[in-house]
Amino acid sequence: MSESSSLQIQGIASTYSYRIGDINTMLSEYLTEDMNLVIVVDENTNKHCLPKLDIPFSHLVVELPEGPEHKSLASCQYIWQQLAGQKYGRDSLFINLGGGQITDLGGFAASVFKRGCPFIHVPTTLLGAVDATIGGKTGIDFASIKNGIGIFADPKAVCFDPSFLETLQPDQVRDGKVEMIKHGLIHSEEHIQDVLSYDLATPPLGKVVLDSVNIKHHFVKKDMMDNGLRRCLNFGHTFGHAIESYFLAESNPISHGCAIAWGIQLELAYSALHYKQTVAGIEDAVDFLQSGFPPIPHFAFEELMHHMRDDKKNRAQKILGVVLSEIAEAHFDVEYEVGQIKKIWEDV
Ligand SMILES: NC(=O)c1ccc[n+]([C@@H]2O[C@H](COP(=O)([O-])OP(=O)(O)OC[C@H]3O[C@@H](n4cnc5c(N)ncnc54)[C@H](O)[C@@H]3O)[C@@H](O)[C@H]2O)c1
Ligand SMILES: [Zn+2]
Repeated sequence: MSESSSLQIQGIASTYSYRIGDINTMLSEYLTEDMNLVIVVDENTNKHCLPKLDIPFSHLVVELPEGPEHKSLASCQYIWQQLAGQKYGRDSLFINLGGGQITDLGGFAASVFKRGCPFIHVPTTLLGAVDATIGGKTGIDFASIKNGIGIFADPKAVCFDPSFLETLQPDQVRDGKVEMIKHGLIHSEEHIQDVLSYDLATPPLGKVVLDSVNIKHHFVKKDMMDNGLRRCLNFGHTFGHAIESYFLAESNPISHGCAIAWGIQLELAYSALHYKQTVAGIEDAVDFLQSGFPPIPHFAFEELMHHMRDDKKNRAQKILGVVLSEIAEAHFDVEYEVGQIKKIWEDV
């Protein structure tokens, strides 16, 4: 892959470009001097990424605090308050400059402000580039429910400049790799090896990033509204979101990548119990997930169940998740049985 590429992503109501290249070259195609431009950042992307943008006309920058607890209604309200009573109408363009937190939140804030403003995602984390900006899911956490409030909305474009990754901490690169490993587990064994063997902290990134984007797109385009096949992408997120929600409720939030690293390990164990045999060929992925993250935490099973039952993926009060019979063989909407969940949790 040259560090300048583009592919078309099937959205809900439109097709949009996912582009990799120099950020100013890419953005110049969408910006005009007479537009009302709003750039949503967090404190880190304001410091490390915004200075790389060359925007030769006045615009509004809205800075939010960083940290998972700020993917909240309060943050949305803060954005809307900055715009209210000003010139910002439905023709305003939002640029969401940040990781998955800012693209989820900024996408949601834009898509409901005055019944919907266009927005461009500019991912600045690996996780944002390979996962959060593809598929049209926007939203915020609410009452400790992960992504409890949100809406499907297509960006106008996704513009990813790999040089943004240069200022990430190693843990933030590691978090992005988790979702890429998940893409490999549900779709391609080869991709797992590519992710594990590639230095994803520094450009050039190679085709491995586009491979992950393509895998996510493969599932999303066949099921935009998440009614079936797309749910395979939730592998690791039944346990993962419950653990993430638990720590959010305890006012001790953890990163999404870390929660999903634990969730994947637990759901591989659940898959083994379900099929009465270990998924073959997962050793390297498990080794990465175990050695790269702290051990899976212990807290009361009742707490885990409380948060699992609150998951928006459930239906008819059943806990529905994904199991793997083998790599690239993911099965969605499988009922997770409480007794089996308890066994996995107690064996941790
Ligand atoms: N919409 C989706 O389909 C989807 C998919 C996966 C994850 N998500 C969401 O994505 C979020 C996690 O995203 P994330 O892992 O990117 O976390 P994040 O956005 O919180 O970023 C992680 C940290 O990196 C900092 N940061 C971002 N870019 C930086 C840069 N270039 N240099 C230095 N620091 C930088 C941020 O300020 C933050 O402290 C979660 O809220 C999760 O629910 C959404
Ligand atoms: Zn995720």
